Amino acid sequence: MNILAIESSCDETAVAIVRDGREILADCIASQIEMHKLYGGVVPEIASRKHVEVIANLADEALVTSRLTRQDIDAVAVTFAPGLIGAVLVGVNFAKAVALALGVPLIPVHHIRGHIAANYLAFPELQPPFLALVVSGGHSLIVDVQDYTDLHILGSTRDDAAGECFDKVARVLGMPYPGGKALDAQARQGNDKRYAMPRSQVHSAPLDMSFSGLKTAALNTIHNARQKGEALNIPDLCASFEAAVADTLAPRVELALRQTEHTRLIIAGGVAANTRVRAELTKAADRCGATLYAPPLSLCGDNGAMIGAQGYYEYLAGSRAGSDLNAYATMPCDRVRW
Ligand code: KG4
Ligand code: ZN
Repeated sequence: MNILAIESSCDETAVAIVRDGREILADCIASQIEMHKLYGGVVPEIASRKHVEVIANLADEALVTSRLTRQDIDAVAVTFAPGLIGAVLVGVNFAKAVALALGVPLIPVHHIRGHIAANYLAFPELQPPFLALVVSGGHSLIVDVQDYTDLHILGSTRDDAAGECFDKVARVLGMPYPGGKALDAQARQGNDKRYAMPRSQVHSAPLDMSFSGLKTAALNTIHNARQKGEALNIPDLCASFEAAVADTLAPRVELALRQTEHTRLIIAGGVAANTRVRAELTKAADRCGATLYAPPLSLCGDNGAMIGAQGYYEYLAGSRAGSDLNAYATMPCDRVRW
């Protein structure tokens, strides 16, 4: 089954074609990052306009790359939640039009489920159940994936997402948006014990996370040094900050692995590309005797293929939308409805 998959929830327009949920036939992405860099973050209105400009050409490109024709497309899958509402709407409306024109089913896909499904593309043998850690620019979640479409959120951030913190700290350090990758590179040269950074706990919710205190601590360290005219060691600050993020994520994942007794841990989302986070999660999985699945960096960020992968399993589970499908800015990944 060939699924044409569309993703437009943030600052990447992406169209992919995926066969049977596992094989990428085309994965075309138009990144808007250069445009948003000018403003130090994503400007929603610009994001929506850019999606409109490129989405149809990307779909053509995906067909050409896959060497398929329109008649070979069996269904259209689209991210319908969560995301920047104007941006998601562009993908949803385009997907509706394509599904109608081709006379094929329209499958709504939750963006976070898509991030998790990126692992089905990277690891053909991987099947639920497993534990998933989703850490992206907008989300930090620990999810019990019982089956392809049966997910349960065990823990989530109470405030900022991990990636949001990376980007904010990186921005104040003068790194271009999105700064997570540049901050990671600096941290590789640094001493992670140089600056004291908090590891927050959420009272009576051991699997929940909080990153806003850490973000504030890192920003205060930077501002204090600047105000006093003291030299700031940027690699050391980056290493100390990154260690605190990893120390927030890894013990919770370890606790969740022990509670659920899952023997497999998958990671997903842009922050899953982080060197220190990967290293600490590898150790946590080892301590629990679990296998860690980490997708290649190309599948960690937003892409269309992950939506095609999850779309296939949503299709098998019977999910179909009509031309009244709407877009939603927020929606938990374990209570998907439209
Ligand atoms: O999953 P994603 O591409 O988009 C969202 O759905 O949010 O994640 C983007 C986030 C950004 O915050 C970016 O800075 C972060 O992932 N990121 C990293 C790294 N690479 C990307 N954060 C830390 N270390 C990295 N190597
Ligand atoms: Zn994402």
